Amino acid sequence: MLKNVNNCSSNAGAYVNVRNVLFATGNFHKFNEVRSILSSIGIAVGMLRMKGKEIQSDNIMEIAENCALEAFNQCRIPLIVEDAGLFIDAFEGFPGPYSAYVYKTIQNRGILKLMENLQNRKATFCSAIVYCSQETGVLFFEGKVEGEITFTERKGDNNSGFGFDPIFQPFYSEKTFAEMTLEEKNYSSHRAKAVNEFAKWYNSDNRHDIF
Ligand code: IMP
Repeated sequence: MLKNVNNCSSNAGAYVNVRNVLFATGNFHKFNEVRSILSSIGIAVGMLRMKGKEIQSDNIMEIAENCALEAFNQCRIPLIVEDAGLFIDAFEGFPGPYSAYVYKTIQNRGILKLMENLQNRKATFCSAIVYCSQETGVLFFEGKVEGEITFTERKGDNNSGFGFDPIFQPFYSEKTFAEMTLEEKNYSSHRAKAVNEFAKWYNSDNRHDIF
């Protein structure tokens, strides 16, 4: 063991492939989803319990970029930030970037009420991940999943899921996100797709942290 440590220290200045990342978020559900995916491919994730202030924008990538820059400027450590939105076809994409406000105010019951007589229930969940470091500046990763808004809220026995999960059913499944286990949701969720895009880049030769 000691021998390895000595060997390492004599290699000071070499490229070290650091396989961990900080996720700036105040949302434990999101953190658990992201950690589960990244840790399964050997990237450790730490939670930085902060997220820069959300600007008003009709673009979730721009919101995530602003949050990432704000968080990075405060702590100067490489990090990721994620912003998500639910885009409902019948409402021309609303609430989209205003999803947090809509969830906070009318919640799922309010959305179901607004959609009571609508047959077109198609919706898309989008996730925007922004990575920020001194070396790379900001980098963007995106994930989307199409599905429909259910007619009632549907949760599973283990009370998993959060936010709009009980009313969003991806086309590829019989279950809403809230009826799925974490692993099932991570199989093909908007966030999982964005995280996998990030991981692809993170594991690629394009990335080196130099110490
Ligand atoms: P934000 O990314 O935290 O701004 O999320 C916007 C809104 O969408 C919040 O009310 C979240 O609870 C909700 N939300 C974000 N991601 C998900 C998800 O994966 N499932 C269900 N709701 C989500």
